[in-house]
Amino acid sequence: MPVVRFRLLLATMSVLGTVSCATRSPWVPDALPDITLEERTRTSPAPPTPESIARGGELFHAACTPCHGKKGRGNGETGKLLSLRLPDLTNSKVQTQRSDGEMFYILTHGHRGMPGQGDRWPEEERWSIIQFMRTLDDR
Ligand code: HEC
Repeated sequence: MPVVRFRLLLATMSVLGTVSCATRSPWVPDALPDITLEERTRTSPAPPTPESIARGGELFHAACTPCHGKKGRGNGETGKLLSLRLPDLTNSKVQTQRSDGEMFYILTHGHRGMPGQGDRWPEEERWSIIQFMRTLDDR
């Protein structure tokens, strides 16, 4: 096979590979390159209470379910339209691989396909969303 055609074949294969990865392969976590140690190890200033979890749930259902789905399984109607896979927040592997500080960081600043929403709510409300998300774990 001539070299040029072989190169073309390789290029086509790699494009197809990228597309099928984006649409079919499962979500995989990614390093957060810019997070500081302080941000990574942060925890909520107030412990979770039934009230804070309920408030976090209200906010989650209003702002996050379109992409993340009602139960956080990553199957919201808008989320389905994204070529990027969404994490299944009910999966304990997904839950344990991120610290509260990392979740808070992602919610605040965004990460890859996840839009940052730091200016949307005060810190206390954002922590209540994290506290609610921790209750989604299926374990
Ligand atoms: C426009 C769609 C969209 C909306 C709305 C959205 N997210 Fe996301 N979210 C994503 C995508 C896509 C990812 C996966 C990013 C990646 O590839 O790492 C994600 C990832 C996350 C993660 C990281 C999970 C992990 O372990 O890496 C958290 C936490 C998160 N979202 C929380 C929220 C919260 C809380 C809200 C609502 C306030 C929200 N998201 C709203 C699309 C969305």
